[in-house]
Amino acid sequence: MGASATLHSPAADGMEDLILRMSMARGLDEIMAVVRQSARSLIGADGVTFVLRDNDKCHYADEDAISPLWKGQRFPMETCISGWAMKHARAAVIEDIYQDDRIPHAAYRPTFVKSLVMVPVREEDPVGAIGAYWARAGRPSEETIRLVQRIAHSAAVAMTNVALINSLAAAREEAARARDAMILAMASLAETRDTETGNHIRRTQHYVRALAEALKDYEPYSGLLDDDVIDLLYKSAPLHDIGKVGIPDSILLKPGRLEPEEYEVMKTHAELGRAAIATAERYMGSTTPFLSLAKEIAHTHHEKWNGTGYPQGLKGEDIPIGGRIMAIADVYDALVSERIYKPAMPHDEAVGLILREAGRHFDPGLIEVFARIAPKFKEIHCQFADAA
Ligand SMILES: [Fe+2]
Ligand SMILES: [Fe+2]
Repeated sequence: MGASATLHSPAADGMEDLILRMSMARGLDEIMAVVRQSARSLIGADGVTFVLRDNDKCHYADEDAISPLWKGQRFPMETCISGWAMKHARAAVIEDIYQDDRIPHAAYRPTFVKSLVMVPVREEDPVGAIGAYWARAGRPSEETIRLVQRIAHSAAVAMTNVALINSLAAAREEAARARDAMILAMASLAETRDTETGNHIRRTQHYVRALAEALKDYEPYSGLLDDDVIDLLYKSAPLHDIGKVGIPDSILLKPGRLEPEEYEVMKTHAELGRAAIATAERYMGSTTPFLSLAKEIAHTHHEKWNGTGYPQGLKGEDIPIGGRIMAIADVYDALVSERIYKPAMPHDEAVGLILREAGRHFDPGLIEVFARIAPKFKEIHCQFADAA
């Protein structure tokens, strides 16, 4: 037989297909499924098992055979042939199992098996084994043994890939946790310099989520807000005043009303916040949906629907939805909270004032929904009340 005939034989095509499917497996279950579905016909065996090492046990995790073998069972390493193959890191080829004392004959008697090949998965430090079984005694050909070895080898490569993918996913989760911690650290840094309390941050975060969730069912907002966006809004809202870290203490901590020129300085916190988050994006070399949303909110939460807000004087729907929602949350909380220079306004009065600002300060469509869920805002304010 010429080389080209070997390359294009059905067995070679089947092997290629198995290796390809194995390389795309995203988990151990998928790897075992590939073996279960293809290995037996490829090898020409009467049964195939996939054994996993489970500490000092051999776990017969999966099988495909003419009649049941040991699927789901665990045997001690020293009493089963897969244990032997793993321990010695080499294949066991047995032409007559009843002539070989490595085999626990009692466990085989109820089965069809007379001969077998058992190959460790990952020869350096085996993590499992693949067994091929026949209902007749006789020595399997060298080619058959090589086929089982190639299948075990591609299973080993696939299992290593899956482990790598899992560790990448773990690293991504770790990065997400670090990001959340950074947000809290940045937000609390902003808080420590501000006369507003930490609870303001937490309350506005909850108002934002409550309003966004209610908006999800209304046009034209439903297209702008899905669960992922709402979660991002909730997480990025605490950074809305991050720019205040750049405002001098003499202005930021001043009790009482600001002079007009002081107010102008105070207003720069929106642009400072945008710039700070843009710097974070530059360091990262790219943006994330989280950072771009946080930047947008920091930049636009003082814009007004009629275009009289700051810093850009944006108008109507040119103001991003995050900024429009944050504006309502921020103003409501400022009104109903006590400050050194002002008493707290009662909830109903604050709601009335906000409703009157529909179409002036606030998006009238948002205000309609706000009016419906205002009691929820009151609840949140009580839940995270400032200490007396
Ligand atoms: Fe602000
Ligand atoms: Fe605020």
